[in-house]
Amino acid sequence: MPRSAWDRRHLLGLEGLSADDILEVIELAESYQEVAAGLAPRLTELGQRTIANVFLEDSTRTRCSFSLAARRLGADTIDLTGAGSSVSKGETIIDTALNLQAMGVSAFVIRCAASGGPHMVADSVRDGIPVINAGDGKHEHPTQGLLDIMTMRQRLGDLKGRTVAIVGDVVSSRVARSNLHGLTTLGAKVIVIGPRTLVPKSFEKITSGPGTVEVVHELDDVLPRLDAIMMLRVQFERQGDGPPVISGDYRQLYGLNAARAARLPKHAIIMHPGPMNRGLEIDSDVADDPKRSVILQQVTNGVAVRMAVMTMLMARHQ
Ligand code: CP
Repeated sequence: MPRSAWDRRHLLGLEGLSADDILEVIELAESYQEVAAGLAPRLTELGQRTIANVFLEDSTRTRCSFSLAARRLGADTIDLTGAGSSVSKGETIIDTALNLQAMGVSAFVIRCAASGGPHMVADSVRDGIPVINAGDGKHEHPTQGLLDIMTMRQRLGDLKGRTVAIVGDVVSSRVARSNLHGLTTLGAKVIVIGPRTLVPKSFEKITSGPGTVEVVHELDDVLPRLDAIMMLRVQFERQGDGPPVISGDYRQLYGLNAARAARLPKHAIIMHPGPMNRGLEIDSDVADDPKRSVILQQVTNGVAVRMAVMTMLMARHQ
């Protein structure tokens, strides 16, 4: 039996991780901060290893930070995207992974539009080759959840009893799901907010605590209660052919503007996983507020978190 999530060798989601699992990797990420930011020399923990970054969906932050994280631990990387690879000719994600395994890669980082894609790769590759989920469909984005939690802890301390709002297209959001699992495991109270089309009541049952999830369809009333507010992008690319999921007054009802930000407690922080639809879910003056917005701190922490995840899954099992 694995003693911790890190003994299982893959990171496919935050669901099922214990508070100790989460805090252990974040503590290691804190120790990597200078190297991750390029302010201290690279490390050698993953020397002689090659990590395959397979990004079959577009990405700026996750793809670049996994690549930087691997190099700052001394590893080489292969960076593969759907458009420039034989995936565009119909090759499956499993065949892609098996071919890269045959070339001697030591780990896979997988982003894909299909929920469960990284799990299929984890079931197909050799034992001892870790698979890290870099975002699969609407399922999970565990390293984003970890970097968000790291950022919140840096600004707010212990998250037990803290109140965090996640606002917008929750139903499409793998970021929301990973945060819901991670934050409630650490005892936070999460309020998910948005129209009924994007925030179904069933989200209240998504985790087993000890924290809680509350579904709310009205943003203004909750603002004074919050320690952190995370705005989500409306993911137009994940909507089907049905009726529009947002109405013309979405920005007026759910957009974070200066007037709404002024109703937050003074200590509350403003977050967004990116990419942002500026002027829709968040206004530029709020997103760029140097005192309250931690959006770029989230990005910086992403490199350190990804270094820590790779170390936990690889360097500690040599
Ligand atoms: N937050 C996030 O996943 O951004 P990218 O899609 O740019 O990687």
